[in-house]
Amino acid sequence: MVPLAKTGGLGDVCGALPIALERLGCQSTCFLPAYRTIKQSGLAIEATDHAFTIYIRNNHVACRLLKTQLPGSTVNVYLIDQPQYFDRDGLYQQPGGAEYKDNCERFSFFCRAVAEAIDRLDLKIDIAHSHDWQTGLLPAYIRTRHGHYPWMSEAKSVHTIHNLAYQGRFWHLDMPLTGMDWRFFNWEQMEFHGDLNLLKTGIVFADAVSTVSPTYAVEITQPELGCGLDSILAGRGENLVGIVNGVDTQTWDPSSDLHLPQNFSVENWESGKAANKRQLQADLGMEQNPDVPVIGIVSRIADQKGWDLIIPLLELWAEQRHLQWAILGTGDPKHESKLRELADRYPNKMGVMLTFDEKVAHRIEAGCDIFLMPSRYEPCGLNQLYSLRYGSVPVVHSTGGLRDTVIDATNESLQAGRANGFRFDEYSLESMQAALQNALDAFAYNRDRWKQIVQTGMQEDWSWDGSARKYIELFNKTLGR
Ligand code: ADP
Ligand code: GLC
Repeated sequence: MVPLAKTGGLGDVCGALPIALERLGCQSTCFLPAYRTIKQSGLAIEATDHAFTIYIRNNHVACRLLKTQLPGSTVNVYLIDQPQYFDRDGLYQQPGGAEYKDNCERFSFFCRAVAEAIDRLDLKIDIAHSHDWQTGLLPAYIRTRHGHYPWMSEAKSVHTIHNLAYQGRFWHLDMPLTGMDWRFFNWEQMEFHGDLNLLKTGIVFADAVSTVSPTYAVEITQPELGCGLDSILAGRGENLVGIVNGVDTQTWDPSSDLHLPQNFSVENWESGKAANKRQLQADLGMEQNPDVPVIGIVSRIADQKGWDLIIPLLELWAEQRHLQWAILGTGDPKHESKLRELADRYPNKMGVMLTFDEKVAHRIEAGCDIFLMPSRYEPCGLNQLYSLRYGSVPVVHSTGGLRDTVIDATNESLQAGRANGFRFDEYSLESMQAALQNALDAFAYNRDRWKQIVQTGMQEDWSWDGSARKYIELFNKTLGR
């Protein structure tokens, strides 16, 4: 929940959606583990009078409830403070990448503590909106009235899937940690190939399920991207919907972004982007030449994001092409070391930063010409939306939210004034290369076309307002209103 804690797009969504809902008159109260990053963030955090224990693993484990607010709003955020579980270096994994071994216990505890906290705070809940596997137990608790809390008989649950590949799968003997009866450990509810599956639990028990784009909502009901849960998801029928994420326009606005050396808008993007590009080239130690296209990538270095296409392309084009790359990411050590090697060999062409750095992310969005996002699958994706707003033309694989937000520049879409980027359908090096080549050709040889594509993207409205309205529709439908 930006700016409290973030590992990826889920943080952007959870930091912006409650505020957008509030603007539309829908009051939200948020719950988050008291992660170390939050305690260190400098945000004002208050103690509350509430401290309680949860009985887990034959122990009464104590926690306190802390309180803060999402900056710039009156949205209350309650933090479940249990330092042994949550005051750690990472959120879900150690900095080296290994998952915390007690994740099932940590997040079972979290969900149970949230249920207890709602009761103690005496909150009147219409909808409990939970996200991803970490909170998949909450819909199950509500449906089964776990803990016999009175608030549960009024509330409905909506569970949102941000990424079906991360399921929170644990061995069956973790089942008692959840506090759920063993009778729910069956293939139609919490069990999955002999294991406990917390995302499946959320999907099965929630009153409604959503995911973060309409295309992904369809893709996950099919075997190819269904990660083994396709038939369960297909079984949810009309109760599974896709709502595209929005852009937090406070944080991501080229005309006021404090991270940028020069602000710009659609009126003066040519000079504005040129200044940002010069600075980016300088920051990366590359030649400051306006004519050399800069291709940007900001991404977790995970298989999902298409690194098995990106790395071969970098190798293939390194000698042949006069291009510059601005790459920011962290993740898979195997790809990281390859990127380091390429950066050492081609310092004038490859700017590679293997860190997590908000400021650099903003500067790449503003300073590159083309933004590459060849994800194998992409539930929604936020960086292509930031790129559109920052006048960087996205080149994307036609999947999930990328397909729903990027319109390929063809003669028809250009004529209709809708083209805002370039897309390729087949997940292969050849197709990606062809789409990128189309973008590079337009950049170099067809400036009118390029300007039109840039301006179309910059003028689109991907702010949260529209998406938050769709969530409210979903909440109302779930409440039978
Ligand atoms: P995902 O959540 O799958 O990683 P999204 O495109 O939805 O993908 O969101 C990624 C978010 O994380 C964006 O806000 C992006 O700027 C940010 N991000 C990813 N990697 C880095 C990094 N190395 N440094 C800074 N921000 C990053
Ligand atoms: C996930 C997805 C990404 C999405 C983000 C926020 O991390 O991989 O596509 O944009 O969640 O919903």
